[in-house]
Amino acid sequence: MEKMAERRREPEPVRYGRNIEETQRRTSGDAQKVATLPRVLKASDTPWEMGIQAFSRHWVSGVPAERLTECPITTMAISEQILDPNMKGGRHRHVREAIFYIIEGEGYEIHDGKRWNWTAGDIMTVPSYCDHQHFNPNPTKRARLWFSIPTPVEFMAIHWVEQIEMRAGYAIPPDAEPIYGPDKKLAGYKAKDGHVFQLGFNKMIQQRINSKLENVVHIEKPKDTYQEYMKLLEDEVKWRQAVPHVVKAAEVPWEDTQMGRIKFLVVPKRNSGLLTYDAFVQELPPGGASGKHRHAPEEAHKILEGKGYDVHDGVKHEWEAEDMVCIPPYATHQHFNSDPHHPAKFVAFQSRWYTFMGHGGIEHLEDAPGYNG
Ligand SMILES: [Fe+2]
Ligand SMILES: [Fe+2]
Repeated sequence: MEKMAERRREPEPVRYGRNIEETQRRTSGDAQKVATLPRVLKASDTPWEMGIQAFSRHWVSGVPAERLTECPITTMAISEQILDPNMKGGRHRHVREAIFYIIEGEGYEIHDGKRWNWTAGDIMTVPSYCDHQHFNPNPTKRARLWFSIPTPVEFMAIHWVEQIEMRAGYAIPPDAEPIYGPDKKLAGYKAKDGHVFQLGFNKMIQQRINSKLENVVHIEKPKDTYQEYMKLLEDEVKWRQAVPHVVKAAEVPWEDTQMGRIKFLVVPKRNSGLLTYDAFVQELPPGGASGKHRHAPEEAHKILEGKGYDVHDGVKHEWEAEDMVCIPPYATHQHFNSDPHHPAKFVAFQSRWYTFMGHGGIEHLEDAPGYNG
């Protein structure tokens, strides 16, 4: 008894928590990396790859471990894809939504069995869980697509990608071992490192999709807060079934704004099938410039025409057609066309995740030269 009482009097070991200190250390590291990474990525440094889905090149990696190693963009994986004449891409489905800007060519999609036509200048959208495949039916002209998928989904424990059909002409890597199904068709392959890749729909994902459709109920007017959440499911299911998958560039007007001449293709007020992106095309007149501004949402430009430079927080970054320009959160930025005879043009993808978290909006700092309201 005496010994036990003594033991009870011994002080508890003190445990030190370092949550705040570690968070500060991690995030200050991010800021340092952003400051040193290049703002302009060159097409010549970005090789094309033969993938199961398409011929692609990857400008910004979506792999979490590669975050902030090559460029200062973190919420958008960005790639480019070519569809040769008469080519159909692979058929697949993923939990993440995807945004495509058609750089050149014309073609169509089959999304959950429905056809959507697109042409150069349009935005094509793949809502989450949509079974999709790209087609270029033109016998002589290729199509080229600039696209992005959001990376935060990788951290949300819901992500999966299913490859239903390999693209036309794709052969599995020579060092891989093919796996055939009972019907003698290719069902996947075993890679050199032992990983087994399976083609086809995933039962868990299909169950999630089916379950939502089976359990959705119509609620005219929610009676309580719980029913408001039930109605949210109904609204989401209906939105997914009815939303348009192509924003036609010809139907969107150019606007002469304080930031310059802009065509706002994807914005919250336009029903586009996208929830985590904004997108626009901007033109800079010969020898002209944009306005100057600052905002939290990351912005990535693909230069479509011309040459010029950006000034980010007072530092000049030169670009030319085909380059990609990265604008990290809160960088003050302005775009300049250095060619006195030709316009410059770029398409911009912007991450809407920041806006969801209360970090949206624009701090406007300077009007574009020549803006007169
Ligand atoms: Fe896809
Ligand atoms: Fe901007």
